[in-house]
Amino acid sequence: SRPVALRISVVGTGYLGAVHAACMADLGHTVVAIDVDPAKVEALAAGRAPIFEPGLDELLERALATGRLTFTSDYAAAAGADVHFICVGTPQRRGENAADTSYVFAAAESLAPHLGASTLVVGKSTVPVGTAARVLERLRRGAPAGDGVRLAWNPEFLREGFAIEDTVAPDRFVYGVDGDTADADVALLDQVYAAPLATGTPRLVTDFATAELVKVSANAFLATKISFINAMAEVCEAAGADVVALAEAIGHDDRIGHKFLGAGLGFGGGCLPKDIRAFMARAGELGADQALTFLREVDAINLRRRSRMVDLARAECGGTLIGKKVAVLGAAFKPNSDDIRDSPALDVARAAHLAGATVTVHDPKALPVARRVHPDMSYADTIEAACEGADVVLHLTEWKDYRDIDPAALKAVVSSPHIIDGRNALDPARWRGAGWTYRALGRPHPV
Ligand code: UGA
Repeated sequence: SRPVALRISVVGTGYLGAVHAACMADLGHTVVAIDVDPAKVEALAAGRAPIFEPGLDELLERALATGRLTFTSDYAAAAGADVHFICVGTPQRRGENAADTSYVFAAAESLAPHLGASTLVVGKSTVPVGTAARVLERLRRGAPAGDGVRLAWNPEFLREGFAIEDTVAPDRFVYGVDGDTADADVALLDQVYAAPLATGTPRLVTDFATAELVKVSANAFLATKISFINAMAEVCEAAGADVVALAEAIGHDDRIGHKFLGAGLGFGGGCLPKDIRAFMARAGELGADQALTFLREVDAINLRRRSRMVDLARAECGGTLIGKKVAVLGAAFKPNSDDIRDSPALDVARAAHLAGATVTVHDPKALPVARRVHPDMSYADTIEAACEGADVVLHLTEWKDYRDIDPAALKAVVSSPHIIDGRNALDPARWRGAGWTYRALGRPHPV
Protein backbone atom coordinates (compact mmCIF):
# COMPACT_ATOMS: atom_id res chain seq x y z
CA SER A 1 0.00 0.00 0.00
CA ARG A 2 1.14 3.55 -0.71
CA PRO A 3 2.29 5.53 2.32
CA VAL A 4 -0.27 8.07 3.52
CA ALA A 5 0.90 11.68 3.47
CA LEU A 6 -0.29 13.43 6.60
CA ARG A 7 -0.54 17.04 7.71
CA ILE A 8 1.76 17.55 10.65
CA SER A 9 2.54 20.44 12.98
CA VAL A 10 5.75 20.56 15.01
CA VAL A 11 5.96 22.91 17.99
CA GLY A 12 9.51 24.01 18.87
CA THR A 13 12.34 24.27 16.34
CA GLY A 14 15.36 23.62 18.55
CA TYR A 15 17.52 20.58 18.09
CA LEU A 16 14.70 18.11 18.26
CA GLY A 17 11.97 20.08 16.48
CA ALA A 18 14.00 21.40 13.55
CA VAL A 19 15.34 17.93 12.76
CA HIS A 20 11.97 16.26 13.31
CA ALA A 21 10.13 18.74 11.08
CA ALA A 22 12.65 18.43 8.24
CA CYS A 23 12.70 14.63 8.47
CA MET A 24 8.88 14.36 8.51
CA ALA A 25 8.67 16.56 5.39
CA ASP A 26 11.33 14.41 3.76
CA LEU A 27 9.20 11.32 4.49
CA GLY A 28 6.46 12.95 2.36
CA HIS A 29 4.28 14.61 5.00
CA THR A 30 3.22 18.26 4.87
CA VAL A 31 4.75 19.99 7.86
CA VAL A 32 4.32 23.34 9.54
CA ALA A 33 6.90 24.03 12.24
CA ILE A 34 6.09 26.63 14.88
CA ASP A 35 8.45 28.54 17.13
CA VAL A 36 7.87 31.60 19.30
CA ASP A 37 11.30 32.96 18.29
CA PRO A 38 10.81 34.89 15.01
CA ALA A 39 14.58 35.02 14.35
CA LYS A 40 14.76 31.22 14.41
CA VAL A 41 11.71 30.97 12.15
CA GLU A 42 13.20 33.38 9.65
CA ALA A 43 16.55 31.56 9.55
CA LEU A 44 14.94 28.14 9.17
CA ALA A 45 12.58 29.37 6.45
CA ALA A 46 15.69 30.55 4.59
CA GLY A 47 17.20 27.08 4.97
CA ARG A 48 19.63 27.93 7.75
CA ALA A 49 19.69 25.53 10.71
CA PRO A 50 20.01 27.17 14.14
CA ILE A 51 22.65 24.60 15.08
CA PHE A 52 25.47 22.73 13.37
CA GLU A 53 24.26 19.25 12.59
CA PRO A 54 25.77 17.20 9.77
CA GLY A 55 23.37 17.03 6.80
CA LEU A 56 20.71 19.30 8.29
CA ASP A 57 21.23 22.32 6.01
CA GLU A 58 21.00 20.09 2.92
CA LEU A 59 17.91 18.33 4.28
CA LEU A 60 16.22 21.66 5.05
CA GLU A 61 16.96 22.94 1.59
CA ARG A 62 15.56 19.79 -0.02
CA ALA A 63 12.41 19.82 2.15
CA LEU A 64 11.80 23.55 1.65
CA ALA A 65 12.13 23.14 -2.11
CA THR A 66 9.24 20.62 -2.13
CA GLY A 67 6.97 23.23 -0.55
CA ARG A 68 5.95 20.66 2.08
CA LEU A 69 7.88 22.36 4.90
CA THR A 70 7.02 25.79 6.28
CA PHE A 71 8.02 27.71 9.41
CA THR A 72 5.94 30.23 11.32
CA SER A 73 5.46 31.89 14.71
CA ASP A 74 1.69 31.66 14.38
CA TYR A 75 0.09 28.77 16.29
CA ALA A 76 -3.06 29.17 14.18
CA ALA A 77 -1.11 27.49 11.37
CA ALA A 78 -1.38 24.23 13.34
CA ALA A 79 -5.15 24.13 12.86
CA GLY A 80 -6.29 21.22 10.71
CA ALA A 81 -3.16 19.10 11.11
CA ASP A 82 -3.68 15.36 11.65
CA VAL A 83 -0.87 15.11 14.19
CA HIS A 84 0.79 17.78 16.36
CA PHE A 85 4.26 17.11 17.76
CA ILE A 86 5.48 18.89 20.89
CA CYS A 87 9.27 19.18 20.57
CA VAL A 88 10.21 21.91 23.04
CA GLY A 89 13.08 21.75 25.53
CA THR A 90 12.98 20.79 29.21
CA PRO A 91 16.15 22.36 30.64
CA GLN A 92 17.37 22.00 34.20
CA ARG A 93 15.79 24.55 36.53
CA ARG A 94 18.20 27.22 37.74
CA GLY A 95 19.73 26.16 41.06
CA GLU A 96 17.71 22.93 41.19
CA ASN A 97 17.96 19.41 39.87
CA ALA A 98 14.41 19.23 38.55
CA ALA A 99 13.50 19.73 34.90
CA ASP A 100 11.70 22.89 33.85
CA THR A 101 8.58 21.66 32.05
CA SER A 102 7.09 25.12 31.58
CA TYR A 103 7.80 25.16 27.82
CA VAL A 104 5.89 21.91 27.39
CA PHE A 105 2.84 23.29 29.18
CA ALA A 106 3.11 26.60 27.35
CA ALA A 107 3.19 24.71 24.03
CA ALA A 108 0.12 22.70 25.02
CA GLU A 109 -1.71 25.85 26.08
CA SER A 110 -0.87 27.69 22.86
CA LEU A 111 -1.81 24.72 20.72
CA ALA A 112 -5.11 23.92 22.47
CA PRO A 113 -7.32 26.74 21.04
CA HIS A 114 -6.49 25.51 17.52
CA LEU A 115 -7.58 21.92 18.19
CA GLY A 116 -11.13 22.24 16.95
CA ALA A 117 -11.63 18.67 15.82
CA SER A 118 -10.68 15.27 17.16
CA THR A 119 -6.92 15.20 16.79
CA LEU A 120 -3.72 13.60 18.07
CA VAL A 121 -1.04 15.52 19.95
CA VAL A 122 2.28 13.69 20.35
CA GLY A 123 4.81 14.65 23.01
CA LYS A 124 8.44 14.05 22.10
CA SER A 125 10.17 16.14 24.76
CA THR A 126 12.05 14.44 27.61
CA VAL A 127 9.81 14.92 30.65
CA PRO A 128 9.51 13.82 34.27
CA VAL A 129 7.25 10.78 34.54
CA GLY A 130 3.66 11.92 35.09
CA THR A 131 3.89 14.96 32.81
CA ALA A 132 1.97 13.42 29.88
CA ALA A 133 -1.17 12.87 31.94
CA ARG A 134 -1.12 16.51 33.03
CA VAL A 135 -0.48 17.73 29.48
CA LEU A 136 -3.53 15.81 28.27
CA GLU A 137 -5.70 17.43 30.97
CA ARG A 138 -4.42 20.86 29.99
CA LEU A 139 -5.06 20.23 26.28
CA ARG A 140 -8.59 19.00 26.84
CA ARG A 141 -9.41 21.95 29.08
CA GLY A 142 -8.19 24.48 26.50
CA ALA A 143 -9.32 22.90 23.22
CA PRO A 144 -12.69 23.46 21.48
CA ALA A 145 -12.55 19.72 20.70
CA GLY A 146 -12.43 18.98 24.45
CA ASP A 147 -12.20 15.25 25.06
CA GLY A 148 -11.77 14.74 21.32
CA VAL A 149 -8.13 15.67 21.83
CA ARG A 150 -5.89 12.62 22.21
CA LEU A 151 -2.30 12.40 23.35
CA ALA A 152 0.55 9.97 22.78
CA TRP A 153 4.04 10.12 24.30
CA ASN A 154 6.69 9.21 21.75
CA PRO A 155 10.15 9.91 23.19
CA GLU A 156 13.03 10.85 20.95
CA PHE A 157 16.38 9.08 21.20
CA LEU A 158 18.44 11.16 18.80
CA ARG A 159 22.12 11.80 19.34
CA GLU A 160 23.52 15.13 18.26
CA GLY A 161 25.79 14.61 15.28
CA PHE A 162 23.58 11.69 14.12
CA ALA A 163 20.24 13.44 14.54
CA ILE A 164 18.85 12.76 11.05
CA GLU A 165 19.87 9.12 10.99
CA ASP A 166 18.45 8.61 14.50
CA THR A 167 15.14 10.24 13.51
CA VAL A 168 14.48 8.30 10.31
CA ALA A 169 16.21 5.06 11.28
CA PRO A 170 16.01 4.84 15.09
CA ASP A 171 16.81 1.70 17.12
CA ARG A 172 13.15 1.57 18.15
CA PHE A 173 9.94 3.56 18.36
CA VAL A 174 8.13 3.82 21.68
CA TYR A 175 4.50 4.92 21.72
CA GLY A 176 2.97 5.69 25.09
CA VAL A 177 -0.81 5.73 24.62
CA ASP A 178 -3.86 5.97 26.82
CA GLY A 179 -7.62 5.55 26.81
CA ASP A 180 -10.23 4.20 24.36
CA THR A 181 -8.56 5.62 21.29
CA ALA A 182 -5.21 3.91 21.96
CA ASP A 183 -5.48 1.59 18.94
CA ALA A 184 -6.37 4.44 16.60
CA ASP A 185 -3.51 6.53 17.99
CA VAL A 186 -1.05 3.70 17.39
CA ALA A 187 -2.36 3.29 13.83
CA LEU A 188 -1.94 7.01 13.16
CA LEU A 189 1.63 7.04 14.49
CA ASP A 190 2.33 4.00 12.31
CA GLN A 191 1.27 6.12 9.31
CA VAL A 192 3.60 8.93 10.38
CA TYR A 193 6.53 6.52 10.62
CA ALA A 194 5.44 4.16 7.84
CA ALA A 195 8.74 4.35 5.94
CA PRO A 196 11.10 3.52 8.83
CA LEU A 197 8.66 0.91 10.18
CA ALA A 198 8.67 -0.80 6.78
CA THR A 199 12.38 -1.48 7.24
CA GLY A 200 11.67 -3.49 10.40
CA THR A 201 12.31 -0.91 13.13
CA PRO A 202 10.93 -2.35 16.40
CA ARG A 203 7.91 -0.51 17.77
CA LEU A 204 6.80 -0.81 21.37
CA VAL A 205 3.43 0.29 22.69
CA THR A 206 3.23 1.22 26.38
CA ASP A 207 1.29 3.42 28.78
CA PHE A 208 2.27 7.09 29.25
CA ALA A 209 4.38 6.57 32.36
CA THR A 210 6.44 3.75 30.89
CA ALA A 211 7.13 5.70 27.69
CA GLU A 212 8.27 8.71 29.72
CA LEU A 213 10.50 6.47 31.85
CA VAL A 214 12.00 4.60 28.87
CA LYS A 215 13.64 7.81 27.75
CA VAL A 216 15.18 8.87 31.05
CA SER A 217 16.18 5.35 32.07
CA ALA A 218 17.99 4.88 28.74
CA ASN A 219 19.94 8.09 29.33
CA ALA A 220 20.60 7.11 32.96
CA PHE A 221 22.02 3.79 31.77
CA LEU A 222 24.27 5.49 29.21
CA ALA A 223 25.53 7.97 31.81
CA THR A 224 26.16 5.12 34.24
CA LYS A 225 28.17 3.22 31.65
CA ILE A 226 30.41 6.23 31.06
CA SER A 227 30.86 6.90 34.78
CA PHE A 228 31.56 3.22 35.38
CA ILE A 229 34.53 3.26 33.03
CA ASN A 230 35.66 6.61 34.43
CA ALA A 231 35.54 5.13 37.95
CA MET A 232 37.78 2.34 36.61
CA ALA A 233 40.03 5.08 35.19
CA GLU A 234 40.42 6.50 38.71
CA VAL A 235 41.42 3.07 40.01
CA CYS A 236 43.77 2.57 37.05
CA GLU A 237 45.44 5.88 37.84
CA ALA A 238 45.95 4.78 41.45
CA ALA A 239 47.21 1.32 40.46
CA GLY A 240 49.30 2.23 37.43
CA ALA A 241 46.99 0.31 35.09
CA ASP A 242 45.58 1.24 31.66
CA VAL A 243 41.83 1.91 31.40
CA VAL A 244 41.88 1.86 27.58
CA ALA A 245 43.19 -1.71 27.55
CA LEU A 246 40.79 -2.62 30.35
CA ALA A 247 37.76 -1.25 28.46
CA GLU A 248 38.79 -3.10 25.33
CA ALA A 249 39.13 -6.35 27.27
CA ILE A 250 35.84 -6.17 29.22
CA GLY A 251 34.00 -4.97 26.11
CA HIS A 252 34.63 -8.28 24.36
CA ASP A 253 32.04 -9.77 26.68
CA ASP A 254 28.87 -9.23 24.60
CA ARG A 255 26.89 -8.60 27.76
CA ILE A 256 29.09 -5.56 28.40
CA GLY A 257 29.90 -4.47 24.84
CA HIS A 258 32.40 -1.89 23.59
CA LYS A 259 30.06 1.06 23.17
CA PHE A 260 29.96 3.93 25.67
CA LEU A 261 33.06 2.66 27.44
CA GLY A 262 35.18 5.56 26.27
CA ALA A 263 37.06 6.73 29.38
CA GLY A 264 38.05 10.37 29.53
CA LEU A 265 36.61 13.69 30.48
CA GLY A 266 33.10 12.27 30.80
CA PHE A 267 29.69 13.29 29.60
CA GLY A 268 28.24 16.74 29.04
CA GLY A 269 25.68 18.26 26.71
CA GLY A 270 22.05 19.26 26.99
CA CYS A 271 20.78 15.77 27.84
CA LEU A 272 22.66 13.26 29.98
CA PRO A 273 23.69 15.58 32.86
CA LYS A 274 20.33 17.30 33.26
CA ASP A 275 18.36 14.14 32.61
CA ILE A 276 19.98 12.16 35.44
CA ARG A 277 19.48 15.09 37.82
CA ALA A 278 15.84 15.57 36.83
CA PHE A 279 15.32 11.81 37.17
CA MET A 280 16.65 11.87 40.76
CA ALA A 281 14.46 14.87 41.58
CA ARG A 282 11.35 13.19 40.18
CA ALA A 283 12.06 9.90 41.95
CA GLY A 284 12.34 11.93 45.16
CA GLU A 285 8.90 13.44 44.58
CA LEU A 286 7.53 9.94 44.05
CA GLY A 287 9.12 8.68 47.28
CA ALA A 288 11.51 6.45 45.32
CA ASP A 289 14.69 8.50 45.79
CA GLN A 290 16.63 5.54 47.24
CA ALA A 291 16.31 3.73 43.92
CA LEU A 292 18.39 6.41 42.22
CA THR A 293 21.00 7.45 44.78
CA PHE A 294 23.58 5.70 42.58
CA LEU A 295 22.99 8.43 39.98
CA ARG A 296 24.44 10.91 42.48
CA GLU A 297 27.67 8.92 42.28
CA VAL A 298 27.41 8.79 38.50
CA ASP A 299 27.22 12.60 38.46
CA ALA A 300 30.04 12.98 41.01
CA ILE A 301 32.41 10.60 39.18
CA ASN A 302 31.69 12.49 35.98
CA LEU A 303 32.51 15.88 37.51
CA ARG A 304 35.66 14.54 39.23
CA ARG A 305 37.19 13.85 35.81
CA ARG A 306 37.14 17.57 35.09
CA SER A 307 39.08 18.42 38.26
CA ARG A 308 41.50 15.58 37.57
CA MET A 309 42.17 17.14 34.16
CA VAL A 310 42.95 20.51 35.73
CA ASP A 311 45.22 18.81 38.30
CA LEU A 312 47.14 17.06 35.51
CA ALA A 313 47.51 20.34 33.62
CA ARG A 314 48.85 21.98 36.77
CA ALA A 315 51.31 19.13 37.30
CA GLU A 316 52.53 19.39 33.71
CA CYS A 317 53.11 23.10 34.24
CA GLY A 318 55.37 22.42 37.22
CA GLY A 319 52.86 22.71 40.04
CA THR A 320 51.07 25.96 39.28
CA LEU A 321 48.92 27.35 36.50
CA ILE A 322 49.54 30.96 37.47
CA GLY A 323 50.96 32.81 34.49
CA LYS A 324 51.08 29.64 32.37
CA LYS A 325 49.78 29.40 28.80
CA VAL A 326 47.22 26.67 28.29
CA ALA A 327 45.91 25.68 24.85
CA VAL A 328 42.50 24.01 24.86
CA LEU A 329 41.53 21.90 21.84
CA GLY A 330 37.75 21.59 21.82
CA ALA A 331 34.84 23.63 23.13
CA ALA A 332 31.82 21.56 22.04
CA PHE A 333 30.60 18.89 24.46
CA LYS A 334 31.38 16.31 21.81
CA PRO A 335 32.67 16.24 18.23
CA ASN A 336 30.44 16.94 15.19
CA SER A 337 28.37 19.37 17.21
CA ASP A 338 28.58 23.06 18.04
CA ASP A 339 26.64 22.50 21.26
CA ILE A 340 28.47 23.86 24.30
CA ARG A 341 25.76 23.18 26.89
CA ASP A 342 27.45 21.69 29.98
CA SER A 343 30.60 21.20 27.94
CA PRO A 344 33.33 19.42 29.93
CA ALA A 345 35.93 21.08 27.67
CA LEU A 346 34.77 24.62 28.45
CA ASP A 347 34.40 23.75 32.12
CA VAL A 348 38.06 22.69 32.25
CA ALA A 349 39.09 25.77 30.24
CA ARG A 350 37.28 28.02 32.69
CA ALA A 351 38.78 26.25 35.71
CA ALA A 352 42.31 26.67 34.29
CA HIS A 353 41.55 30.33 33.61
CA LEU A 354 40.35 30.81 37.20
CA ALA A 355 43.50 29.04 38.42
CA GLY A 356 45.54 31.82 36.85
CA ALA A 357 46.44 30.44 33.42
CA THR A 358 46.11 32.29 30.13
CA VAL A 359 43.78 29.96 28.26
CA THR A 360 43.17 29.96 24.52
CA VAL A 361 40.37 27.76 23.17
CA HIS A 362 40.02 26.30 19.68
CA ASP A 363 37.12 24.37 18.18
CA PRO A 364 36.33 23.57 14.54
CA LYS A 365 32.63 24.52 14.84
CA ALA A 366 31.70 25.84 18.28
CA LEU A 367 33.75 29.07 18.40
CA PRO A 368 30.94 31.44 17.33
CA VAL A 369 28.60 30.19 20.06
CA ALA A 370 31.39 29.93 22.65
CA ARG A 371 32.46 33.53 21.94
CA ARG A 372 28.87 34.68 22.37
CA VAL A 373 28.12 32.73 25.56
CA HIS A 374 31.53 33.07 27.29
CA PRO A 375 32.98 36.36 26.02
CA ASP A 376 35.42 36.42 28.96
CA MET A 377 37.51 33.56 27.52
CA SER A 378 40.13 33.83 24.73
CA TYR A 379 39.70 32.01 21.46
CA ALA A 380 41.78 31.24 18.38
CA ASP A 381 40.55 30.32 14.90
CA THR A 382 43.35 27.89 14.15
CA ILE A 383 44.96 25.08 16.12
CA GLU A 384 48.39 26.68 15.63
CA ALA A 385 47.24 30.06 16.94
CA ALA A 386 45.68 28.41 20.01
CA CYS A 387 48.90 26.50 20.73
CA GLU A 388 51.30 29.42 20.14
CA GLY A 389 53.70 29.54 23.10
CA ALA A 390 51.67 27.03 25.12
CA ASP A 391 53.10 25.40 28.23
CA VAL A 392 50.56 22.60 27.93
CA VAL A 393 48.02 21.52 25.29
CA LEU A 394 44.74 19.97 26.51
CA HIS A 395 42.84 17.76 24.07
CA LEU A 396 39.27 17.93 25.38
CA THR A 397 36.87 17.22 22.48
CA GLU A 398 37.81 14.42 20.08
CA TRP A 399 37.34 16.13 16.70
CA LYS A 400 38.98 14.35 13.77
CA ASP A 401 40.92 17.57 13.08
CA TYR A 402 42.87 16.94 16.27
CA ARG A 403 43.68 13.33 15.41
CA ASP A 404 45.03 14.67 12.10
CA ILE A 405 47.47 17.08 13.78
CA ASP A 406 51.12 16.55 12.84
CA PRO A 407 52.74 16.47 16.31
CA ALA A 408 56.16 17.36 14.90
CA ALA A 409 54.82 20.51 13.24
CA LEU A 410 52.85 21.57 16.30
CA LYS A 411 55.92 21.08 18.49
CA ALA A 412 57.57 23.98 16.69
CA VAL A 413 54.75 26.31 17.82
CA VAL A 414 54.44 25.53 21.55
CA SER A 415 56.68 26.63 24.37
CA SER A 416 56.88 23.15 25.96
CA PRO A 417 55.66 20.01 24.18
CA HIS A 418 53.23 18.68 26.80
CA ILE A 419 49.90 17.27 25.72
CA ILE A 420 47.17 15.81 27.91
CA ASP A 421 44.60 13.71 26.08
CA GLY A 422 41.28 14.12 27.88
CA ARG A 423 39.48 11.84 25.45
CA ASN A 424 41.94 8.98 24.91
CA ALA A 425 41.57 9.59 21.21
CA LEU A 426 45.10 10.51 20.14
CA ASP A 427 47.84 8.00 19.32
CA PRO A 428 50.33 8.12 22.23
CA ALA A 429 53.15 6.58 20.16
CA ARG A 430 52.86 9.26 17.47
CA TRP A 431 53.02 12.10 19.97
CA ARG A 432 55.79 10.60 22.07
CA GLY A 433 57.67 9.71 18.88
CA ALA A 434 57.61 13.39 17.90
CA GLY A 435 59.14 14.38 21.22
CA TRP A 436 56.03 15.25 23.22
CA THR A 437 55.21 14.32 26.79
CA TYR A 438 51.86 12.60 26.31
CA ARG A 439 49.60 12.05 29.32
CA ALA A 440 46.04 10.79 29.39
CA LEU A 441 43.23 10.16 31.84
CA GLY A 442 43.30 6.64 33.28
CA ARG A 443 46.52 5.60 31.57
CA PRO A 444 50.01 4.99 32.92
CA HIS A 445 52.56 7.72 32.42
CA PRO A 446 55.93 6.26 31.42
CA VAL A 447 58.85 8.31 32.71
C1 UGA B 1 22.30 11.49 24.34
C2 UGA B 1 21.93 10.04 24.07
O1 UGA B 1 23.05 9.32 23.58
C3 UGA B 1 20.79 9.95 23.07
O2 UGA B 1 20.40 8.60 22.90
C4 UGA B 1 19.61 10.78 23.60
O3 UGA B 1 18.53 10.76 22.70
C5 UGA B 1 20.06 12.21 23.81
O4 UGA B 1 21.15 12.23 24.76
C6 UGA B 1 18.90 13.00 24.32
O5 UGA B 1 18.45 12.75 25.44
O6 UGA B 1 18.35 13.81 23.58
P1 UGA B 1 23.84 13.28 23.07
O7 UGA B 1 23.64 14.16 24.26
O8 UGA B 1 23.70 13.84 21.71
O9 UGA B 1 22.82 12.03 23.13
O10 UGA B 1 25.31 12.74 23.19
P2 UGA B 1 26.06 11.34 23.40
O11 UGA B 1 26.60 10.87 22.12
O12 UGA B 1 25.24 10.42 24.19
O13 UGA B 1 27.28 11.82 24.30
C7 UGA B 1 27.05 12.38 25.58
C8 UGA B 1 28.36 12.70 26.26
O14 UGA B 1 29.00 11.50 26.68
C9 UGA B 1 29.38 13.45 25.42
O15 UGA B 1 29.91 14.50 26.20
C10 UGA B 1 30.42 12.42 25.10
O16 UGA B 1 31.68 12.98 24.92
C11 UGA B 1 30.35 11.53 26.33
N1 UGA B 1 30.80 10.14 26.11
C12 UGA B 1 30.16 9.32 25.25
C13 UGA B 1 31.90 9.65 26.81
O17 UGA B 1 32.52 10.37 27.62
N2 UGA B 1 32.31 8.35 26.61
C14 UGA B 1 31.66 7.54 25.76
O18 UGA B 1 32.08 6.36 25.64
C15 UGA B 1 30.56 8.03 25.05
